[in-house]
Amino acid sequence: MAQQTLILVKPDGVQRGLVGEILRRIESKGYRITRMRMLTATDEQLASHYHEHTAKPFYPGMAEYMKSGPIVAAVVEGNRVIEGVRSLSGATDPTSAAPGTIRGDLGRDWGDGQIRNLIHSSDGEESAAHEIGVWFSE
Ligand code: PPS
Repeated sequence: MAQQTLILVKPDGVQRGLVGEILRRIESKGYRITRMRMLTATDEQLASHYHEHTAKPFYPGMAEYMKSGPIVAAVVEGNRVIEGVRSLSGATDPTSAAPGTIRGDLGRDWGDGQIRNLIHSSDGEESAAHEIGVWFSE
């Protein structure tokens, strides 16, 4: 089976009308979207998804941001898709993310101290399996 990754178009991506543009970049690269849903994240889903980060100082603000509106969760498949979608996404901070990446082209600092970086993508096969279970449990 082809490798799978989990992506989230975060609330800023949905609110700004960038779902199509973000998914277009992933599909244009040649990867296949095999599952997709729109939902509003719960505290429980976020704590499980971000279990490595819940004790970090930025977590409460990040959780509020992630609950601030609907998100789109998708499973994306293809050879080396984890590495490929991370590369398409760009660095965490959209101000310094490279031009050509989703975050570098479409994101910015909005001046309120909260990083809004449009997309999440899994960083390894183990986290992808866990995260697909979080957002597609039924
Ligand atoms: S760390 O601490 O080095 O592991 O952090 P990093 O890998 O860069 O980021 C882990 C996830 O937390 C998000 N993040 C933030 N979100 C909002 N505000 C702040 N300050 C912040 N710092 C880190 C970052 O985007 C990663 O989440 P995902 O969903 O994978 O993008």
